[in-house]
Amino acid sequence: MIENSSAFNPNCTACPRLSESLTKIRSKFSHYHARPVPSFGAKNPKLLIVGLAPGLHGANATGRPFTGDHAGVILYKMLYEYGFSNKEISTHLKDGMKLKHCQITNAVKCLPPENKPTVEEITRCNSYLVEELKAIDKKAVILCLGLISHKAVLKALSLKQSIYPFRHGISYSLDDGHTIVDSYHCSRYNTNTKRLTEEMFRDIFTFIKSQIDLNTNVV
Ligand code: URA
Repeated sequence: MIENSSAFNPNCTACPRLSESLTKIRSKFSHYHARPVPSFGAKNPKLLIVGLAPGLHGANATGRPFTGDHAGVILYKMLYEYGFSNKEISTHLKDGMKLKHCQITNAVKCLPPENKPTVEEITRCNSYLVEELKAIDKKAVILCLGLISHKAVLKALSLKQSIYPFRHGISYSLDDGHTIVDSYHCSRYNTNTKRLTEEMFRDIFTFIKSQIDLNTNVV
């Protein structure tokens, strides 16, 4: 059962620490979005990708998840390779990027200082994720990028971590029809240290594509 949902508020200031930090960033970088970053992509996606939170000079600056962030380079590359987009590189809101059957969002919609949202911030922001999960098809695949995203998705679906632990490459078929797929986050740190290689990420997308094909016959 999904509870406590609320529609995304582009001017949300519910988390004092985050909203104060964004006010400072707006005064320093006046051309930055520096507000909650909405989800991006198809309205009724077959694939929902859930990241962690906007990066300072990436999604926080451009206003689109994983856009301008180092982590977005490999992510958008995969989306293009697997037919989920019309372009390989996402640079800014007016670059013509269109996602097909795919939507990208974050567990936390505002930039967290040092990339570390607090438990309270993740919990408060979870109501938006609840709404996003309610809006997708029951057969949709949910790709969780990293442990925080995984935990946020479980929380939004009222599922227990003890029953669905995070592991790179694991997938869970849920009773409601959704499939959860876990991957290490495609962060600069993880890709530089080879914790997540392009090949490993491609394997994740190959699985997702086969799962969607199974569910619907076409992507
Ligand atoms: N940019 C995002 O939008 N999300 C992440 O998780 C990382 C970078």
